[in-house]
Amino acid sequence: MGRLSVLRCPKCGAESTSKSLFRCARCGSILEVQVAIDHLTRSDFEAMRRSRDLSIWRWFDFFPVEKRSAIVSLGEGNTPLIHARRLGERIGVANLYLKNDTVLPTGSLKDRSNSVGISVGKELGFATASVISTGNAAASVAAYAAAAGMQSVVMVPKGTALSKIIQARAYGAAVIVVDGRFDFEVAELYKNAVAEFGWYDCLSSNPYRVGKKSYAYELVDQFDGVIPDWVIHPTAGGTGILAMWQGFKEFLSLGWIERTPKLVAAQSEAAAPFVAAMAKGSLTIEAVVAKETVAESIQVGNPAALGWRALAALRESNGTAVALSDAEILAAQAQTANLAGIFAEPAAATSVAAARKFRASGVIKNDEVVVCNLTGHGLKQPEAIRFAENEFAPIAPTLDSLREQIRRLKDSATFPSSPLA
Ligand SMILES: Cc1ncc(COP(=O)(O)O)c(C=O)c1O
Ligand SMILES: [Zn+2]
Repeated sequence: MGRLSVLRCPKCGAESTSKSLFRCARCGSILEVQVAIDHLTRSDFEAMRRSRDLSIWRWFDFFPVEKRSAIVSLGEGNTPLIHARRLGERIGVANLYLKNDTVLPTGSLKDRSNSVGISVGKELGFATASVISTGNAAASVAAYAAAAGMQSVVMVPKGTALSKIIQARAYGAAVIVVDGRFDFEVAELYKNAVAEFGWYDCLSSNPYRVGKKSYAYELVDQFDGVIPDWVIHPTAGGTGILAMWQGFKEFLSLGWIERTPKLVAAQSEAAAPFVAAMAKGSLTIEAVVAKETVAESIQVGNPAALGWRALAALRESNGTAVALSDAEILAAQAQTANLAGIFAEPAAATSVAAARKFRASGVIKNDEVVVCNLTGHGLKQPEAIRFAENEFAPIAPTLDSLREQIRRLKDSATFPSSPLA
C-alpha cells in the first residue's frame, strides 16, 4: 500500500512543493512530514502487532515511505524492554524498565531514524548521504547508506577520537576531518557542501528522520495495555522526545491508547539547554556553549533544528527536563552494568541517572512505572570505564598470587563499579 506524504511547515502552515526541500520557502523553518493515518483501525493495530516483521517496519503505515520495496532495514527495532528488578530495588523504583537500544544494528538509537531517513533518500533517488557527527550518527548513516547502495560522507572536527570515526569508516564512509570547531566552521562548511554537492542531508533537519516514533509504538505493544507513567530519554537535538510524543499522540488520536506518559529529557549539566528553557518557562531554546562532559554523544548546546518543538512536546506531556553531573552519569552507568547487565555508554545512562535523581527527590513515586531509554552501547566509548593502575597486570600462575590479586581488587573501592566489592 503506497501513501503520499507531504511536507508542511509547523510554524506558518505552508506546504512544500518539493519532497527534497527540507526548509519552508516562506519562513525558513524545518518542515514536518505528514503521513495520513486516519483510515487505520484497531484491526490494523492488531495486524501490526502480529506481524512477523519485528523491525520498526511493522509500523510501516506511520512512516513517510511510499513503497515497501524502498525500505532499507537492518532489523532495527523491537529492542528488549527489561524489568530491571535489582537496579530498580537499588534506586527505589520497583517498576523500572530499561528499553535496551544498545542492541540496535550499529549500537545506538540513530538506527531508528536512519532506517526511515535513508529509505526515503533512496526513494527520492539520492546517490550520497551525508552527516556531521562525532560518533553515533556517523556510524548509523554509513551503515544504512551501505545497505541502500548509497555513498556516504561524514564530516568531523579535527581532534575527534579515532575510535569514534572508525566504525563509520568500516562501513565505507568517506570521513572528512576538518580543521575547525564542530558548531562553527565544520557546520558552516557542511552546509555549503550539501548545497554544492547535493548530498542527502541526514541531520535532524531532515524531516523524514521520524523513526524514533517507534519507541512509542513498541512501548505500547510491549507493555500490552499498561501505559508507563514516565519515559526518560537522553536528549541532545530533541528528535527522540519530539518523535516519541508524536507516536503516542498518533495512537491516542486513533483510540489505540487512552493516556500518554510524561516525557523527561535527561541532559548532561555541561549541555542542558532544555533544562534551562523549562526552568525559565520559555517557549524557545536559548543556545548554550557546551562544556566538556563524559556524556559525549549528547554534548549539544544548540538544538536549533527541532528544539522548540521538542520543548513543546515535553510540556504537552506534562513532563520535564533534568541535568545530571558527570559523577551521577558515571555512577548510573556502573549501576546499569552491575545490577542490570547492560553496558550503556555514559550519554545513554543519563536516563537512569535521572530516574535515580527523581526518585530521591520524590518527583517519581515508588509505585510508578518508569522507562529509561538506553540509547547507545558502552563499547562506543570504552575509555569512559575507569580502572586502577596495574589492575590488568598479569599475575604469576599460582594460587598465592591469585589470592593476593583478589585481595587487591576487593580493596580498590575508588571506582563506581569496583570488582569483587
Ligand atoms: C547515545 C545517544 N543518546 C541520545 C541521543 C539523543 O538524541 P535526540 O535528542 O536527538 O533524540 C543521541 C544523539 O545525539 C545519542 O547518541
Ligand atoms: Zn513556514
